[in-house]
Amino acid sequence: MLKQMGRASQAVLIILCVLMTVKSFEMEIIPANRIVAQIGETRILTCNTTGCASPRFSWRTQMDNPLGGTVNNHRTYSTLTMNPVSIVNSHDYLCTVFCGEKEKKEKSIKVELYSFPTDPIIEISPSLVAGEQVTVTCKIPDVYPSHHLEVLLKKEEHVLHEENFFQDDSTNTESKTVTYSFNLTAEDIGKEITCVAKLPIPSMDFEPKERVISQKLNANFGPQNTTITASPSNSLMEGEHLKLTCVTESNPPPHTFWRKQLAGDNIQHLIENNVLSIPHAHFTDSGQYICEVINLATNKTEKATVDIFVQGAPNIAELSIEPSTTVQEGENVSIQCFAESNPPSKIILRRKSDSADMGPYSEGGTLLLPSVTFLNGGVYECVAENKFGKSTKEITLNVEYGPKNTTISAIPATVVKEGDTVMMKCTSSGNPVPVISWKKMKATGESVKIFQGATLTIQNIKSADLGLYECEAYNHFGKEEKAVKLLVQGRLEKPDQMIPLIIAFSGVAAIAVPVVVILIYVSRKAKINGSYSLVKALRLKV
Ligand SMILES: *[C@@H]1O[C@H](CO)[C@@H](O)[C@H](O)[C@H]1NC(C)=O
Ligand SMILES: *[C@@H]1O[C@H](CO)[C@@H](O)[C@H](O)[C@H]1NC(C)=O
Ligand SMILES: *[C@@H]1O[C@H](CO)[C@@H](O)[C@H](O)[C@H]1NC(C)=O
Repeated sequence: MLKQMGRASQAVLIILCVLMTVKSFEMEIIPANRIVAQIGETRILTCNTTGCASPRFSWRTQMDNPLGGTVNNHRTYSTLTMNPVSIVNSHDYLCTVFCGEKEKKEKSIKVELYSFPTDPIIEISPSLVAGEQVTVTCKIPDVYPSHHLEVLLKKEEHVLHEENFFQDDSTNTESKTVTYSFNLTAEDIGKEITCVAKLPIPSMDFEPKERVISQKLNANFGPQNTTITASPSNSLMEGEHLKLTCVTESNPPPHTFWRKQLAGDNIQHLIENNVLSIPHAHFTDSGQYICEVINLATNKTEKATVDIFVQGAPNIAELSIEPSTTVQEGENVSIQCFAESNPPSKIILRRKSDSADMGPYSEGGTLLLPSVTFLNGGVYECVAENKFGKSTKEITLNVEYGPKNTTISAIPATVVKEGDTVMMKCTSSGNPVPVISWKKMKATGESVKIFQGATLTIQNIKSADLGLYECEAYNHFGKEEKAVKLLVQGRLEKPDQMIPLIIAFSGVAAIAVPVVVILIYVSRKAKINGSYSLVKALRLKV
């Protein structure tokens, strides 16, 4: 009995052992019973088996709708690929596995769908101008299920508009649009418009459930309130750096043009930039500057002007003589001096060598010298002065004239002894400087040029050297002559018997000279020798 029981239990053990070593047939669906898939993605469902040598697979939807995917059977598993996931995949899928003739197992998986693929798109109605109505449009593309969609439009933190689509009964992805209009104010410029789109489905696990996009309100306006600021100021010193800045309110930033108003309605065009810079301002930079701004988006133009005064010590820009710096006597001469100056300067014109209360003088910038004489020649000076300082310039007036004031000086004297040396120097004024030459009068009355130069030196004087000498001063405006007589003092015993000296330093007419010379000569000879032969005397001279 005990033996029988032992055998029976042995058999049970063996059967149990066999059952345990031969694996039982199992199946699973991966992922497990539920997935959340985004429309457009690719998803794969896998039906896997264990414990079955050659399982057979079958996929179907609960309501026997189309599968919406591709089945691939492998030895122990089968896949269902949804590429892309589309609205037709919104089902419970059932995978059935047959193992041999008798065994069959099945499992289901619920595929839940959503679509929220991209950020919203904001559009703000174009050509924004302050004061006009602006329309903000927020578009949420390809959303599903839209009846969960909530949209918020904000200006900075302020909620402008809220909209939901709870009433929707969408059966596929849809693009939703939210629109809101409001009156744009100048303060709105630059503020941020934000569109917040939410798809809050608590039962579905996906990210993100909220998408946000922002855009700045960028209204076109202006130009307006255009002004020019001048640095250091609109009144500045010469040499300073002048900076003019054109300031305006405009969006988009305008094109800026500078112009300068010139005397006589001429307009000078300057650079095109909102800052006009003149590194070293000059008097001539004084004047009216115009800044013109143009906003190409609004087609509006505005202008601003500024008057610039460049101040400083005068600068003599021009000092000239009319008709020319070299004139002839008798011409009417005018000397002009022009100074750049702000404030205007006092301009004094006068000859430099003249004292303040003497000679021609002018305070107006023009000095008239009617019918000039050689006395008017010289260096003229223009002095321009204002409260910031003074400036001086010189010019020489060259008055041309014929020789004048021709004089002769003799060293030691014109009365000499035989054997002496005499130097006779002739000077003459004239412009250009006269050329001096010496002539000697022959007994025949004919003058012979003997020397060119101012100083005539006669050494070891003999009786033949006696006579009348003429000095001629010449330039191309004329000539002037002077004569001097060279006399020899006799060697007399008694001083009281000395012949009175006759020194001729006068403008004796050339024709009259020989007669005088001869007479003097004859009388002198007669006094020395007691008698005199005119013929002998003349022969001596030749
Ligand atoms: C099926 O399951 C087995 C055992 O758990 C595992 O080793 C195998 O990788 C699975 N196959 C697939 C395709 O998931
Ligand atoms: C501005 O003016 C030009 C020509 O005058 C025109 O073509 C353009 O459309 C205008 N633009 C605007 C924004 O009014
Ligand atoms: C100089 O001016 C006077 C009067 O203004 C005039 O009569 C004279 O002809 C002028 N002389 C010359 C050389 O131009």
